[in-house]
Amino acid sequence: MHLNREEERMLAGEDGHATQKAMQILVALGKIYGAAQMVKVTSVQVSGVSYKNLGDAGLDFLNQLAVDGKARVKTTLNPAGMSLTDWRSQGISAGFAEKQLAVIDAYRRLGVEISCTCTPYLAGNEPGFGQHIAWGESSAVAYANSVIGARTNREGGPSALAASLTGRTPLYGLHLEENRRATHSIEVGVPLWYPEDFAAMGYFVGEAVKDGIPRFKGIRRASLEELKSLSAALASSGGVAMFQIEGITPEWGLGTDKIESIPFTSKDLAETGAKLNDSGEPDFISVGCPHCSLSELATIAKLLEGRKVTREFWVCCSREVKRQSDDAGYSGAIEASGAKFAMDTCMVVAPIEEMGYRVVATNSAKACHYLRNNGLRVRFLSLEECVQKATRHS
Ligand code: F3S
Repeated sequence: MHLNREEERMLAGEDGHATQKAMQILVALGKIYGAAQMVKVTSVQVSGVSYKNLGDAGLDFLNQLAVDGKARVKTTLNPAGMSLTDWRSQGISAGFAEKQLAVIDAYRRLGVEISCTCTPYLAGNEPGFGQHIAWGESSAVAYANSVIGARTNREGGPSALAASLTGRTPLYGLHLEENRRATHSIEVGVPLWYPEDFAAMGYFVGEAVKDGIPRFKGIRRASLEELKSLSAALASSGGVAMFQIEGITPEWGLGTDKIESIPFTSKDLAETGAKLNDSGEPDFISVGCPHCSLSELATIAKLLEGRKVTREFWVCCSREVKRQSDDAGYSGAIEASGAKFAMDTCMVVAPIEEMGYRVVATNSAKACHYLRNNGLRVRFLSLEECVQKATRHS
């Protein structure tokens, strides 16, 4: 693998221990995937933030890098295991909070923006078409590649952080145009009206194509929220890091027509929805996976106007979108209802199973997938149904 003089210097340790460690990680990765060289990145999104997933080994690794490491490009952070300010009201234990805050402190020393959101593209980390980036959050990776047309592989926590500390990533995979071509054609034969429909379709297609690149045909329009839900679902049941939608996403023309065709029918839509539903009455309701947009907060505010929640109800969003919601006058109705804004975190990375909850209702197929892995039962409902469950009096 060819390294330029600056990269050789980093590898030799002339820019410090953390940069050397980071370059070692990237070179090893580049060799595994046959990269010919490095490419500079303009932004990084680091996943692997919740102490629930990192544990003490992850915290030690971060502390070692933070001794002399510094982010060289704009670097934002995925959600943590709790709100960084309101963790007590979320029911988080003091022991967990202490460790989680130590993780955040290490990232802060590394020069990472403590944004704690999985929708960085709604909160100031907005790459442009064709830019090389290194993002770790799988739903944001799919969104960035597909909707924005930026170029990123699906990075792990260490490789994304290594890209941040060096400003580079190995040039392979989705950084190369020849690997961004569609592998499957999805013939959508059912109208999709809601973000939940896009989520169910994404879940079905992710299972079918694994880490392929599906190209959807037959979708007339898709909102930002629908594309966000689709991205998350495709990346959870499968390893999809990029998709195309004919006439909608910027690179939908890449690829030949000689690819496997997969129909998606009204029966598939109904069966996938049913598959994402367990039995039981929800004791925890949460929306905002991936983190809510301003438009979603406007809808939630309208649905909650004049109502009181009767069960724990988390509305997950970034601090930036919450600030916009405050300015737009949406937050008042949400907070007055007793619903909680869950900023910096979400229902999946917070340890809610340890807080005694058993059945979670959500409008996210991705959340259903991972909550089940965490041992919880799930109900996959529309946004309106989630609000109805949260405000029910029985
Ligand atoms: Fe974001 Fe948590 Fe879902 S990190 S994509 S809200 S699982």
